[in-house]
Amino acid sequence: MLEFATTNPGKIHEAREYLGAETVEQFDFDYTEVQGDDLDAVAAHGVREAHRATGEPVIVDDSGLFIDAFDGFPGPYSSYVEDRLGIERVWRLTKPEDDHSGAFETVIAYCDGDSFEATPEPVDRDERRGQDLAASERGGATTDEQVQGTELPVKLFWGRVPGQIVAPRGEGGFGFDPIFEHNGTTFAEMDTEAKNAISHRGRALAKFSEWVETTGRLE
Ligand code: IMP
Repeated sequence: MLEFATTNPGKIHEAREYLGAETVEQFDFDYTEVQGDDLDAVAAHGVREAHRATGEPVIVDDSGLFIDAFDGFPGPYSSYVEDRLGIERVWRLTKPEDDHSGAFETVIAYCDGDSFEATPEPVDRDERRGQDLAASERGGATTDEQVQGTELPVKLFWGRVPGQIVAPRGEGGFGFDPIFEHNGTTFAEMDTEAKNAISHRGRALAKFSEWVETTGRLE
């Protein structure tokens, strides 16, 4: 059994549809969202916190909507923006003459307390200021100090889907789904299976489940 640490039933629904209802259990846990300008550090901090709380194999999913006309905003601040502004106002902020392209991105982070070939440590913005940026690039070498500072190995899986920011349409999904269109259909107009087949989360879940199968991690 895999715990999915989230307070969002929409994420659980999509993960169950993808990985099987018998595989995924909701761990209703609100992990600390560290301030950072990328999703990786938020997810890595969150999954360690969740694993310390549950003691079980656990994933978290940190997602964001990156709008090109706003230089990627709200990105990692998407949750705050949805709560404070609401998706209707986000749509209204994009002017007709703007480029309406954007992307949804997800990072799924996994931790079970054991060691395995972990993803090089992501660092958040504040940590980055005092560090050698080159060494901390994704896929680059992790320094000894970074490894020692992160006692729980974490594996990250990424998913991204390009789309357009449009006026709200559709009744399904959750979050920004009504204003995010991919190939002419908003995510809120798709059923879960159709959304999973092309979405940021579906793509990250595909990579995660392939890794689980190859490594036999959850057996
Ligand atoms: P978080 O990953 O829970 O921090 O989500 C960030 C923000 O993006 C929240 O406002 C979510 O509602 C929203 N969000 C996350 N995933 C999706 C999705 O698949 N579709 C639409 N909105 C999403």
